[in-house]
Amino acid sequence: MYKQIPVSREIFGDGENQLICGDVMKLPESVRGMAGRVQCVYADPPFMTGERYVRSRPYGTKGWKTGSPAPRYPAYDDRYQNEKTYMRMLRKQVTTAWELLGNTGVFYLHLDWRMAAQARLLCDKVFGKTGFLNEIIWAYESGGRARRYFSRKHDTILLYARSGKYTFDLNRVPLPRGPEKRNHMARGMDEQGRMYSRIVVRGREYRYYDDEPVYPGDVWTDISHLQQRDPERTGYATQKPLRLLERLLLPVTAEGDWVADLCCGSGTTLAAAQRLGCRFIGMDRNPEAIAVALSRLRTDNLTVRCETSRDQAALQTAESAADGLFALKGLETEHPAFPASGTPADHLEAWETGRVEKDVFYVDRRFCRSFRYPELPLSLKTDPGEIRAVMTTDAAGRRRAFLRVDD
Ligand SMILES: C[S@@+](CC[C@H](N)C(=O)[O-])C[C@H]1O[C@@H](n2cnc3c(N)ncnc32)[C@H](O)[C@@H]1O
Repeated sequence: MYKQIPVSREIFGDGENQLICGDVMKLPESVRGMAGRVQCVYADPPFMTGERYVRSRPYGTKGWKTGSPAPRYPAYDDRYQNEKTYMRMLRKQVTTAWELLGNTGVFYLHLDWRMAAQARLLCDKVFGKTGFLNEIIWAYESGGRARRYFSRKHDTILLYARSGKYTFDLNRVPLPRGPEKRNHMARGMDEQGRMYSRIVVRGREYRYYDDEPVYPGDVWTDISHLQQRDPERTGYATQKPLRLLERLLLPVTAEGDWVADLCCGSGTTLAAAQRLGCRFIGMDRNPEAIAVALSRLRTDNLTVRCETSRDQAALQTAESAADGLFALKGLETEHPAFPASGTPADHLEAWETGRVEKDVFYVDRRFCRSFRYPELPLSLKTDPGEIRAVMTTDAAGRRRAFLRVDD
């Protein structure tokens, strides 16, 4: 039999990367302790849209296989009392970034037309006007069309340097030149068969080879928002594309550097950092964002600091000494968004085995549904009684720990 217990931390492997449930307005010690060590802070805070966002998440094997059912859950609230309250939050984001960054570090602040002007003045104050490097315009086509003014089709990403010693290597983000980019130029082919466009200015010929890279300017039109059926989609509202984060991180980080995102939502920055070989510290005040982010990350070296849910549930298990098989039958739990036809096995999105010491869960094995693997493995070969503790994540993103108590 397994009894539900509270745990505050989950450790995978060496546990160096950090995923924290916490509020920027009340920074936990695990974040404050990183002061001066971070190479890149990216912030994609609420934009002051006045909306309450939801997320939808596939439910059970059928949901992960076909995209339906995918119930909707509350994600986060972007309603602020007034501009003053919002600016207090933004100031904390910017000053925290300043404190976390090392000398060579940079800060990205991602907003839209609503608060980008105020944010620019604020960043000028905290980082100094000389810290300003770019106002990146990320333009896209998605969303509705306006009739009484031009459609607002871009986000603004401010880039500031912590000091004049900042790291920036544009060579890390080459783009294919493509023949369509050369207006008014003649085409040619050299002796090696390489295609180019050419222009002659004051008797001098300039050649632009098709196979030579070009580098992005500060207006980006080549990265679209995630489409409805994009396999990268987690269902978390306002999720940003991995390609966008990779382009932001590549020129300013090297392998092993620390990247921080303290409003990490579905964890896009952390997934990008991991792909680039960086270490990361991710935080969000919404525990369900932590569960979604966790589902996207490699868990070879991660600490999750997030209290488990207080909602009570019962773990259904079976063990067969003859076969040496431990089987998880499901989780008896309820949620208003779960389909009425759901079974205890459908309620599960992920589970882990491990051991508990004090209030820390040390993970041995993790099983998780994904679009690629919609079927959650529910049994494993073990010696009888070996599974001392189980951690579950249900379809609503609630994490719970269970300890074996019958012997
Ligand atoms: C725009 S979303 C981030 C989306 C994310 N970049 C992604 O790709 O999924 C903003 C996030 O900030 C979080 N948030 C809002 N206020 C916060 C605060 N004071 N401290 C920590 N997180 C906060 C919300 O829960 C939400 O997940």
